[in-house]
Amino acid sequence: MTIDDELERRSRRGTERGPDEVWSAAVAAARRRRRIPLWVIPVLVAVPVWAIIFLGGLSPASDGAPSQLESGAQIFSNQCGTCHGTSGGGGVGRPMTDGALLETFPDILGQLQFVWTGSEGVGPAGSPYGDPARPGGQHVTQGYEGGAKMPPFRASLTQAQLLAVVRYEREVLSGAEVDPTQLGASGQLLWPDGQPMLDASENLITPDGQPLFDGSGHLTVQPDWASPVGGSG
Ligand code: HEC
Repeated sequence: MTIDDELERRSRRGTERGPDEVWSAAVAAARRRRRIPLWVIPVLVAVPVWAIIFLGGLSPASDGAPSQLESGAQIFSNQCGTCHGTSGGGGVGRPMTDGALLETFPDILGQLQFVWTGSEGVGPAGSPYGDPARPGGQHVTQGYEGGAKMPPFRASLTQAQLLAVVRYEREVLSGAEVDPTQLGASGQLLWPDGQPMLDASENLITPDGQPLFDGSGHLTVQPDWASPVGGSG
């Protein structure tokens, strides 16, 4: 091909651009393109950090599951608050605030039993329950205003849920103080000797690893009102 042929060919192509021209146009376009503004960078970093802190605050357990006390709060508002008041101030059911529960049940065992089998589990109307030395007198079944019964929760709660809601009532509503050494890695309550309260199937066990409830829903170890277990006021 001669130079003339080539000139001729280019003039015939008219406005068509050669490879060099295409390349330089692309470079120019890239230069003209807007960069990501600088302020976006700290925002991109801050959003995930904030999300981790925010979600972490709601679910402190390391696996993301709600802690025992958080589950307890949820169960209380779903299943107990209608009778005991949304903040535990009382209603059809007895009040739980200002240490009231800790006077009835200085030992958590007695409360676990009472919620599991309800007023009827104690006996006919007028049967005493809780600490016999309760200030102001021992409580008796159907002894509260109106004489209503406390329903049993054996059929509607798991044992892990029972422990969670009983803890919430004692610690959050009634103000029981739990020694930090009695809490496990995800905030779960342990026996004072550090043994777990729940087994691998999430059933309540004694410090010796035996079932805490027998087949009829009664405690296999009795509350010791003199040296109570499970957080005091
Ligand atoms: C249908 C109403 C009702 C519901 C729902 C209810 N309770 Fe009660 N609760 C009562 C009544 C009534 C009493 C008093 C029982 C008695 O005098 O026999 C009571 C008493 C109690 C007591 C003993 C308080 C004391 O100082 O004597 C505890 C603990 C308790 N309830 C826990 C719970 C928990 C935990 C739940 C939810 C899982 C719950 N209750 C849901 C009505 C209810």
